[in-house]
Amino acid sequence: MFKIPHITPRRLPSVLRRMPKAELHIHIEGSLEPELIFRLAERNQVKLPHASVEALRAAYDFQDLQSFLDLYYAGASVLLHEQDFFDLAWAYLQKAAADNVVHAEIFFDPQTHTARGVPFETVIKGLHHACQRAHQEFGLSAKLIPCFLRHLSEEDAFAMLEAAMPFRHHFIGVGLDSSELGHPPAKFERVFAHCRELGLHVVAHAGEEGPPEYIREALDLLKAERIDHGVQAVHDPALMRRLAEQRVPLTVCPLSNIKLRVFPTLARHNLKSLLDAGLCVTVNSDDPAYFGGYVNDNYVELFAALGLDARQAYQLAFNSFEASFADAATKRAWQHGLKAFFEGLREHD
Ligand code: HPA
Ligand code: ZN
Repeated sequence: MFKIPHITPRRLPSVLRRMPKAELHIHIEGSLEPELIFRLAERNQVKLPHASVEALRAAYDFQDLQSFLDLYYAGASVLLHEQDFFDLAWAYLQKAAADNVVHAEIFFDPQTHTARGVPFETVIKGLHHACQRAHQEFGLSAKLIPCFLRHLSEEDAFAMLEAAMPFRHHFIGVGLDSSELGHPPAKFERVFAHCRELGLHVVAHAGEEGPPEYIREALDLLKAERIDHGVQAVHDPALMRRLAEQRVPLTVCPLSNIKLRVFPTLARHNLKSLLDAGLCVTVNSDDPAYFGGYVNDNYVELFAALGLDARQAYQLAFNSFEASFADAATKRAWQHGLKAFFEGLREHD
């Protein structure tokens, strides 16, 4: 590796914010800020259980994944029209561009919307137009990944896939999210096999709250190309060796893990152990409107809490490009740009 200049802890936040990066684990419904929830509720005549933006924000005090999901799905109820989905994604993409995200692979939860009578077409067209605009205005490449809700049935998952296929050209893969415990990856083996036959990329949330066994299932049964979260892998040394040897990326979300009490504090987060073990770890925001920060906030707060340095910053951003689903030449170009950014930093300015 080339020589990375020494960056003082005081300067590091600015370097973290300015370095080019990819974001690979962001649920677009999780970027719905309370202000936009209230604006859309008014526009769409949807009644909300909370009296004000402040009251809603005050309710963002979670015990675990499920207590978050209950509010997250309630918040999404204000999204009805194509324009709403455009506004949602456009707000995120403007923030991502400001965070120097050059590539984003964005999750969305179609079943949350189709269950309320909002067609898949309405959802994906709004999101897609925002992605197109981000590319035109910022040169930010943004790709979409619909997720199956794992608390629903296999049959529901197949129905979602059928509704999605007319828009196959608007998304690059599928994911698996929602309540993890009690809903192992095995439940979706057949639908994932079908997705792979269709040439879709496949990723899955595993090992956020669930055991290492769920990560193994995601790899062996779903053939997941990336594991979303995956932080529970540390409890299984053989699995750790496998993840390192095969360079299976983990899309880790530090602030999410604190807000959902996966770790008690950021200082106790295991991201450094995962990196030191040679895993392809990346840093992401998950649901930034709910967890107190966008991707740069995740980098800055994590680095301060764990005392990480510029070499690790370079490694994490490098990994974010390596772990993306872009073609090899594009990944190399981004990694080259990242190297140039670090080479351009002076030791003492
Ligand atoms: N885990 C599972 N499902 C989700 C999450 C998460 O962190 N965020 C949004 N849906
Ligand atoms: Zn997630």
